[in-house]
Amino acid sequence: QAPWLIVPAAGSGLRMGANRPKQYLRLAGRTVMWHTLQRLHSVFPEARLCLCLDPRDSCFEPDVVPFARWQRIAGGGERADSVLHALEWIAAEEGDEQALVLVHDVARPCVTAEDLMRLHDAVDADAVGGLLAAPVADTMKRDDGAGRVASTEQRAGLWHALTPQGFRLGLLRDALMDARRAGRGMTDEASAVEAMGLSPRLIPGRRDNIKITHPDDLALAEQILAAQAS
Ligand code: CTP
Ligand code: MG
Repeated sequence: QAPWLIVPAAGSGLRMGANRPKQYLRLAGRTVMWHTLQRLHSVFPEARLCLCLDPRDSCFEPDVVPFARWQRIAGGGERADSVLHALEWIAAEEGDEQALVLVHDVARPCVTAEDLMRLHDAVDADAVGGLLAAPVADTMKRDDGAGRVASTEQRAGLWHALTPQGFRLGLLRDALMDARRAGRGMTDEASAVEAMGLSPRLIPGRRDNIKITHPDDLALAEQILAAQAS
């Protein structure tokens, strides 16, 4: 049973500061979006894709989508709104509330097939669901708001939250609707599920599954793709 895929791609890439959203920038001869969709398709060729796009997007070209069954979804103001729009569309199509949904940032083109498969199998076997994550390597400081250290966080037990994040359709939709009603800002799916009192599973993933965010991340991603291919 192929999972549903949601790829939020309705951001405008403010921190990248380019002349177009970062998912349309060139990376190893293609766009960031092309790489991300290819990686997902290589592991889940039968999956149904919801691609969240800014309704004002003028860069998108449908040829980039390798999936046979896919739907363009109007993105919302925040990432969580874009994902919720996709979940509402899926819920109307899919009778099974237990259907598995994987959410993956368009800005993570370096995710490997191995990590995608491991994430899928782990969340499929889990009662709550979970996310790819990588242990924090640096010592973590909290600032005092004035450029000085207020405290040192305990590094042991801290993880970077990556994507994909995978949950059952009904649970994820309820979690994101609760979060919206409560006006809580969410930067990932897991935090909405956590707010319901549940504990998503941490599935160890590769540290090179970076989210392209700042200008120097493009060159880094190009090196990562080259290293993965060799
Ligand atoms: N995203 C989305 N809808 C939004 C905002 C973000 O679908 N309203 C998507 C982005 O396209 C990206 C992912 O969520 O794939 C992670 O967001 P982020 O890295 O913050 O991307 P941007 O919002 O585009 O970048 P920035 O915050 O620098 O503007
Ligand atoms: Mg953003």
